[in-house]
Amino acid sequence: MKCCDNIDARMVDETSINLDPIQVGGRLTLEAMKAMICWGDGYSVCDNCRKPFRLDYIENPPLKDFHVDVAEWLGMAQARTVPGARRGFQQVAGTYVEKGDPVLIGALAHYTSYLSVELQKGIVREIPKTADNHITAEDTANRIEDVVREFGTTPKLLYIDHVDYQFGNMHDVKGIAKVAHQYDIPVLYNGVYTVGIMPVNGRELGVDFIVGSGHKSMAAPAPSGFLATTEERADEVFRTTQMEGDLTGRKFGIKEVGILGCSLMGAPIVGLLASFPKVKARVEHFDEELANSKIVVEALRSIEGTKILSEYPRKHTLTRVDTTGSFDLIAQTHKKRGFFLSSALGKKGITGIIPGATKVWKFNTYGMTRKQAEYVADAYLEIAETNGLTIN
Ligand SMILES: Cc1ncc(COP(=O)(O)O)c(C=O)c1O
Repeated sequence: MKCCDNIDARMVDETSINLDPIQVGGRLTLEAMKAMICWGDGYSVCDNCRKPFRLDYIENPPLKDFHVDVAEWLGMAQARTVPGARRGFQQVAGTYVEKGDPVLIGALAHYTSYLSVELQKGIVREIPKTADNHITAEDTANRIEDVVREFGTTPKLLYIDHVDYQFGNMHDVKGIAKVAHQYDIPVLYNGVYTVGIMPVNGRELGVDFIVGSGHKSMAAPAPSGFLATTEERADEVFRTTQMEGDLTGRKFGIKEVGILGCSLMGAPIVGLLASFPKVKARVEHFDEELANSKIVVEALRSIEGTKILSEYPRKHTLTRVDTTGSFDLIAQTHKKRGFFLSSALGKKGITGIIPGATKVWKFNTYGMTRKQAEYVADAYLEIAETNGLTIN
């Protein structure tokens, strides 16, 4: 089926149970889909942009209230939309990092954290991961001391993922922020896998910036996301323009420099806005998501030779698993090689795992119903049994 002349209609979540680690939290709500149809035009939300001409002051659609609500929901003083979490990193790094400045980043961080420092010509120093793949307050303290010895100054900024994308492990943000603040280092909380998924409160965590991704975890179209901050940091990271044209004397009101004026328009912002009530409600039910995840994790664990590489018991629905000692053994002699697993899952209507992956792979059960989780768990067990693996 085509959705227009030259583009197929995408049918993934309509026809399958999707386990794709990066997609499941960003799937649109019906409300977002409808809002996108009405407001998808590029500058649609500018219909009612009045003085002082800034996105977060627009009252129809209710973007003004939305910005206030999101900040409050995150336990922060102010929030702005950004075109993806990476642009939030860029905005913060652009405020605090100059050429040659050291910045600390947890070693499990996404590449976009590193690139946001590179753009500023800053220098990354990593906080190592422990043997069990965690970033700790103790290692943070040691690395701050290392940086002070190497650079003669403290890191200008510290990035920490609450839940990392590699293992879905949860890290001690509160402890890490406490250590960083003893050295007056601002802390950027990467909430790409938490904001919109589970309750997040920046005040309780003691962080200076929260960055979330709309298309990763807030049921919104790409590119979208949020940067939220404290009252203390807001004037720095959301500073307004002081620029003046030398010939014309033109000035640009209260446009914010870090995001080059207005950030999200059209589909991304109305999608975020329309999904927000459901997103706000769903984070309160994260325990149910974890319970569903457990059903699939336990089924996989019961297949002899399978190891859960993520922390266990699980605290997040994104899980990394090692099936070198189970499904990969089958792949060695199967006529479809490693593709036997994705093919067998596909026949059962399950998608989202990298085709051919039978060694180390990730899955995310977020958004499943209990029935779907049971179905996925049974599907893995049946594929294992059919191929002669032992179930314990
Ligand atoms: C941990 C983490 N941080 C940041 C990003 C970038 O997010 P965005 O696509 O919203 O810029 C990703 C994307 O995969 C991620 O996994």
